[in-house]
Amino acid sequence: MARLSCFSLLLLLLQTQLLVLVAAREFLRLPSEKDVVGTRWAVLIAGSNEYYNYRHQADVCHAYQIMKKGGLKDENIIVFMCDDIANNPENPRPGVIINHPNGSDVYAGVPKDYTGKDVNANNFLAALLGDKSKLTGSGSGKVVSSGPDDHIFVYYADHGGPGVLGMPNDEAYLYANDLVQTLKKKHAGGAGYRSLAFYLEACESGSIFEGLLPGNISVYATTASNAEESSWGTYCPGDDEGAPPAEYDTCLGDLYSVAWMEDSDAHNLHTESLRQQYDVVKDRTSAHETYSLGSHVMQYGDLGLNDQSLYLFMGTNPANDNTSFVVANSLSSSSSSSSSSSRPGAAVNQRDADLLHFWHKYRRSEEGSARKGEARRQLVEMMARRSRVDKSVEMIGNLLFGSEEGPKVLNAVRPAGRPLVDDWDCLKSMVRSFEERCGPLTQYGMKHMRSVANICNAGVSEGAMDKVASQACTINPPASLF
Ligand SMILES: *[C@@H]1O[C@H](CO)[C@@H](O)[C@H](O)[C@H]1NC(C)=O
Ligand SMILES: *[C@@H]1O[C@H](CO)[C@@H](O)[C@H](O)[C@H]1NC(C)=O
Ligand SMILES: *[C@@H]1O[C@H](CO)[C@@H](O)[C@H](O)[C@H]1NC(C)=O
Repeated sequence: MARLSCFSLLLLLLQTQLLVLVAAREFLRLPSEKDVVGTRWAVLIAGSNEYYNYRHQADVCHAYQIMKKGGLKDENIIVFMCDDIANNPENPRPGVIINHPNGSDVYAGVPKDYTGKDVNANNFLAALLGDKSKLTGSGSGKVVSSGPDDHIFVYYADHGGPGVLGMPNDEAYLYANDLVQTLKKKHAGGAGYRSLAFYLEACESGSIFEGLLPGNISVYATTASNAEESSWGTYCPGDDEGAPPAEYDTCLGDLYSVAWMEDSDAHNLHTESLRQQYDVVKDRTSAHETYSLGSHVMQYGDLGLNDQSLYLFMGTNPANDNTSFVVANSLSSSSSSSSSSSRPGAAVNQRDADLLHFWHKYRRSEEGSARKGEARRQLVEMMARRSRVDKSVEMIGNLLFGSEEGPKVLNAVRPAGRPLVDDWDCLKSMVRSFEERCGPLTQYGMKHMRSVANICNAGVSEGAMDKVASQACTINPPASLF
């Protein structure tokens, strides 16, 4: 028995070696003449602000460090982040941002291209397109001035909702159709890039590309969740195995984001393809396909790019030269699932991560202190604001379609492959109308975008929407009371 297992171990080793050789042929894209890249560009954006959203800017800083170690030049990495975390009075380690409980600083060296209110949908799209003339504010002016041989990597982390992505300070949302139009424009004439990889972390992030991103513009996208579910924060207070250091009251990262980044950190990226990383990330983000505390990672666009190596987009850290993806994975799958990169850890629904922050802040502040009072007030306000937005939307549905049909119309989900809404201008104008009458949807309320889209899909006129929004929110006044 023992002898047999030694023998099978030997066999396994031989097989592994063989596998590496075969795999190397199949996926390795060492930079032979054919594959020599023009320039690699990266656009990294955190769409939130406020300390309770710590994790999005932590993710983006970490992504910068990966690109930098991979060999991208600062002139080709464009960072959008509000930059209100490192020196936030709530930050227990002033001037430092971490993205892992045991992690070191990821903030040092991050370029401050677009910060504060310069982080907005307009500047993001202008930078992506490479159009300096469309920039506003006082950012660095860096844009993706790419050519036909270049590779572009785009990474976004924040809250979202069906068809929209958030921006800090409740700036105007980034709508899915504007993003996809920009990608098409960038591709037009084949002048903008060779290929573009887009990694997107947000709730309902699948809805940004579902039915919208074509397969013939050399854009490959993966998203943290499908079109109808939330994505997940990780390294959150209260997590048994992956809790942040005791002094942190906030989640340090997002599950899909740390999954791709910890994977990129660990390997020679010459040896790993987009598809291989997708598989690793999908497994971790789904909590090993249990989906108990996790989401469905999705792929969209040109899946023909699946076999391209990550190296084309992220470069590779020379320190990982000897850590090929295939070897590392055949070892870890045969040994155990306890390595930190495969362990799911506890995760928190992105939409509840802010509540979790205020709850921890409340629980841990001294009895009777001003801090405790403040945390309690913030928690109560946030809950009240949520239920008010929920009620307003529900009431609008009832007024438009009746209390029987209302919830059905509002919550209907279109079949896969169809975009959220046919008329995006209608969606934008209905959202405007809602916000005028009922106050801002805010980070949490973005989840109601599907309801508003369905109101458009049902052919309701703008006038009718305005009238019922006004009615609903007079009975149920806006959140601005706080
Ligand atoms: C992509 O395919 C669509 C639908 O077939 C077509 O209308 C469009 O012109 C194509 N775009 C490019 C860049 O080839
Ligand atoms: C952090 O390091 C400690 C000590 O080495 C280890 O026990 C723990 O599992 C690590 N945390 C994570 C999330 O990897
Ligand atoms: C990789 O292995 C080679 C050969 O053993 C060694 O010379 C080199 O220093 C190693 N590189 C790294 C980054 O560890």
